Parts: sequence; C-alpha cells; structure tokens
Amino acid sequence: MSLTIAIPKGRLGTQAIEIFKRAGLGECIDEKSRKLVFEDKKRNLKFILLKNSDVITYVENGVADIGISGKDMVMESGGDVFELYKMNIGKCKMSVAGIKGKKIFKDDTILKVATKFPETAKKYFRGRGQRIKTIKLNGSIELAPILGLSDVIVDLVETGNTLKANGLEVFEDMYQISAMIISNKISYKFKRKEIKEIIELIRREEENGKDN
Ligand code: PRP
Repeated sequence: MSLTIAIPKGRLGTQAIEIFKRAGLGECIDEKSRKLVFEDKKRNLKFILLKNSDVITYVENGVADIGISGKDMVMESGGDVFELYKMNIGKCKMSVAGIKGKKIFKDDTILKVATKFPETAKKYFRGRGQRIKTIKLNGSIELAPILGLSDVIVDLVETGNTLKANGLEVFEDMYQISAMIISNKISYKFKRKEIKEIIELIRREEENGKDN
C-alpha cells in the first residue's frame, strides 16, 4: 500500500529529509528544485513539501497519511491526529518572555500576550488563573513588548539569542517542543504496518545518529 508523507519546507524539513535519506527513504527528494511532490517508486512512497503550518491540515484530512510537524503546531491546531513519534530534531522550548527585569504577571488585570500561538497561550494562562488578551502575530514576536504592543510574548526559544539581542528574557518555560511524526487516524487503522515500518526506520536512524 502506498503512503503519502507530508514534510514541512524550511529548516525543520531539511533536517527531516536528511534523516529520511540516511534511513534509505525519499532519495528522490530534491529540495533545490521547485517541485512539491516527489515519488519514491521503489518504496511506494509519495512525499509532499508543504508550509509548516499546513502539514496538520493535510494529515488531518487524509491527503497525507503521515507528516512531520512541530509539537508547537500540533498543540496550537488542536488537530485530530495521532502523535506517533517524537523526533530528535526541532528541539526548543515554548516560553513566556518579556523585557529583562520587568517580569509582569498581573493577577487582577488583563495581561497582553503577543504570539503566533494564541490558542496555546490561552490554555496555558487559563490553567494559571491569569486573564489575558492575545495579539496574534506572524513573526518577529520579540518586537511586541519592546514597542509596547504587548506586556509579554509567548514564543519559541532555542538558543535564547534573539531574546538576548533584543533586551528580553524568559519569565517562564511552558512546554518542551520537538518535531513529531503525526498520522491520520484512519490511515493508522488501515496502513498501520507500513506506517510503523517507516517510524522504525527513522527511530533506528536517529539512534545511530546519536552514537556518531
Ligand atoms: C523563532 C522564534 C524566535 C527565534 C528563537 O523565530 O520565533 O524568534 O526563532 O530562536 P533563538 O532562541 O535561537 O534565538 P524564526 O527564526 O522562526 O523567525 P520569525 O521571527 O519569523 O518567527
């Protein structure tokens, strides 16, 4: 049975493709070309290259059987998919940050939170009993507290360099993030063997990578 695999374009996708290729999968993928669909006829696999935030939509709707997506996207979308395997790539944290030395958590008033992840932020602060107003941004989130658009930000922090370079600091770590292999629920029912084989190859390759 054939499998369609959704891969995000960009840094995470490049790392994922490297691992797939080392595992002997998707040799046909040429990231330098403008093509978006690649077929590995030998293994009966089809790879589709998508925008990071669209991977879940394709998997949830069954156009792709499995896909690679950051845990951040999975949490934010609330997508109805199975999270099958946590990869060793795309590791970072989702954190609350703001202007260095000015930690604000107002218990009584509404905290303004700028983020790419409003749903995740709402859920997190609800759990702390903190009322918030989310401001949805699409990038350069660090600008928001500097320019007074928000009190704090909820964003991904990897090295912490972007925060530091902009006079910000982490106030609180929220979640550990990494890339996940996700699956469409029906595909997992009918193509379980094939899906498990792919995951096992990736898992083994990641294990080998650790030793080298
Ligand atoms: C992400 C994130 C931070 C930065 C964190 O942004 O939103 O801005 O990386 O990385 P660091 O801790 O290693 O500095 P991205 O590079 O995806 O760009 P964006 O501003 O368009 O979101």
